[in-house]
Amino acid sequence: MKIQLPKNSAMLSTQFTYGVATASFQIEGSADSRLTNIWDTFCKKTGTIIDQSDGLIACDHVNLWEQDIDLINSLNVDAYRLSISWGRVMNRDASLNEQGVNFYIKLLDKLNQLNIKVFVTLYHWDLPQYIEDNGGWLNRETAYLFRDYADKISTAFGNRVYSYATLNEPFCSAYLGYEVGVHAPGIANAKAGRTAAHHLLLAHGLAMKVLQINSPDSLNGIVLNFTPCYANSEDAADLAATKYADDYMNQWYIKPILDGAYPDLLESLPIDVRPDIHDGDLDIISQPLDFLGVNYYTRLIYKANEQDIFEQVPNDTALHTDIGWEIYPRGLTELLTSLNMTYKLPPVYITENGAAMADKLTDGEVRDKDRINYYQDHLRAVNLAIEQGVDIRGYFAWSLMDNFEWAEGYLKRFGIVYVDYETQKRTIKSSGLAYRDLISNR
Ligand code: NOJ
Repeated sequence: MKIQLPKNSAMLSTQFTYGVATASFQIEGSADSRLTNIWDTFCKKTGTIIDQSDGLIACDHVNLWEQDIDLINSLNVDAYRLSISWGRVMNRDASLNEQGVNFYIKLLDKLNQLNIKVFVTLYHWDLPQYIEDNGGWLNRETAYLFRDYADKISTAFGNRVYSYATLNEPFCSAYLGYEVGVHAPGIANAKAGRTAAHHLLLAHGLAMKVLQINSPDSLNGIVLNFTPCYANSEDAADLAATKYADDYMNQWYIKPILDGAYPDLLESLPIDVRPDIHDGDLDIISQPLDFLGVNYYTRLIYKANEQDIFEQVPNDTALHTDIGWEIYPRGLTELLTSLNMTYKLPPVYITENGAAMADKLTDGEVRDKDRINYYQDHLRAVNLAIEQGVDIRGYFAWSLMDNFEWAEGYLKRFGIVYVDYETQKRTIKSSGLAYRDLISNR
């Protein structure tokens, strides 16, 4: 089975970047060689991770990194997106941890030797626990600690990095982590969620300034996730509720960065829920971006609900992935064109897209036909957005390999490479082969 794009597609040019993505906590393991972080702590609490697992070993990438890079290389990709574990490269006294820094430097050097562009994310959710003990993202000071970490690590990496993203999906850190509590650190409070979001955005802006000085030649930006909101009916109340949900979940994170302002709903939040915004914060947050990373998996449908303003409506007739997310490729085209109409966008990279499927390894193969379809349909959706004028430069499959899927533990497999967690053996799935062939045959 092949992934096919229209013959004249701009995505068949070698100018278009194809990559695979991972994140430190989800694959690295070797937890004893870094500082404890909020996910280590969260995993220890009962009822947080479905299979009661943790990130202590994960894909053992810290030991298997060389073979993993060979694997990436064998997929013929142009780029690899990874994240840096803050607590692996920084000590508690804010000095660099040489051993941790060297681990990444060797990795970056090998990727550079192979001509694989390195897209580094500085924060993919693994906040050192000692910072959380001091308030974590509820403490404004954390934004300044992040700036210091970004400063030191980007200096240490020199010119090895093609692209830096400050944060991955601040929505998840803030909303899932501090507002509803299903992610680390597990706090469930609306004011906490909005405050964490503001401090994360501030951290982004502060780090952007540092990156533009330390690494002016790399593409510096941020990775945001979007779950487009669709109304259950044309009813005015449903439309208004859907707009509210969109502002609350999506626009809240992009508008301050690109427009230097929060959505109007900020004013409608009860005073005791609003974040504490200092004069000048929005100027810091709205630093110009070299690129915007867009992560897309699914859409959501909403209707009005008097008590909670908006309520999610399930779409029972649609196809869903193994994690229960509706498969809706059209949402990706519509998201990209609507962002392009609403904002003055920098060049866009799709920094994550992919599907969890109930994969089975049989006779040494994983025949994940549904995932191939998912990729083909979503790549075509990206192509349509390019045809409609959106400047999209690249696409990353989530994920290189099966890994620790946060609160879902190891039960949900997103990889285009299968991982046998008993033996740590990697097997390229049919989707991985199809992705490789798409890239090779451009
Ligand atoms: C978004 C996150 O960045 C990544 O860590 C996660 O595994 C995927 N989405 C799938 O949920």
